[in-house]
Amino acid sequence: MDKQDRPIGFFDSGLGGISVLRACTALLPHEDFLYFGDSVNAPYGEKSLETVRDLTIRAIEDLMDQGVKAVVVACNTATSAAIALLRDRHPHLPIIGIEPAVKPAAQAHNSSSVLVMATPLTIQEDKYQKLAAAFCHEANVISLPCKGLAELVEQGHMEDSVMDDYLQTLFLPFRHCSVEYIVLGCTHYPFVRSALRKNFGRPVEIIDGSDGTARQLKRQLEAAGLLSRRQADGRVTFQNSRPEMIGKCWELYNLVY
Ligand code: DGL
Repeated sequence: MDKQDRPIGFFDSGLGGISVLRACTALLPHEDFLYFGDSVNAPYGEKSLETVRDLTIRAIEDLMDQGVKAVVVACNTATSAAIALLRDRHPHLPIIGIEPAVKPAAQAHNSSSVLVMATPLTIQEDKYQKLAAAFCHEANVISLPCKGLAELVEQGHMEDSVMDDYLQTLFLPFRHCSVEYIVLGCTHYPFVRSALRKNFGRPVEIIDGSDGTARQLKRQLEAAGLLSRRQADGRVTFQNSRPEMIGKCWELYNLVY
């Protein structure tokens, strides 16, 4: 098989990266994608750095064994824990990560306060701390670790009372703060965008890094001469460490939100 025709590997701790996959298939409709979600070990955001590093490296190397031409680490937590190491180990493989979209939110003309929602591990890591510090002069960047939120999404609590109760408690301290932007710094969170909007209770812009990641993937494939030349539609394949989640993967891939 020509190198250009090989699939693009996709990885997340579970279902979240499907929100990024959707942006990538929309931008690159002729590419094949092979998505692996590690739902057995989700949530990653509440594990140790070493554990997330090991799980991520193992998953990416399994995708490489299946012949992928590039890899998207569609998980903010795994990106912050392992991307530097992965690039060191595999310097010839295009590896695209994702990080909270703090920059566009902080630089928006009407933005003075930006609330960044992410997993505890993402927020604790150096990579995020540096990112937040770089934009703290342009906006008040408030970091909000959301312990348990990715797990609720994995369990399918998207728009029910369990999700509402969780978000009401989470947002309580911000009831009287002015916040113009919420940044979704975890790929599971776009699936609960309407619940977030409803429970935040005030008009707010909500942004995530999916489109930026898709554009970055396209640029890197172009630069490496790896864009598919086929005209036919590409194919999406899901794999999961909990095989019973495959149906759920397709459901989320096709969900309108
Ligand atoms: N979806 C992942 C992220 O973007 C992590 C969720 C989790 O497993 O904690 O950070």
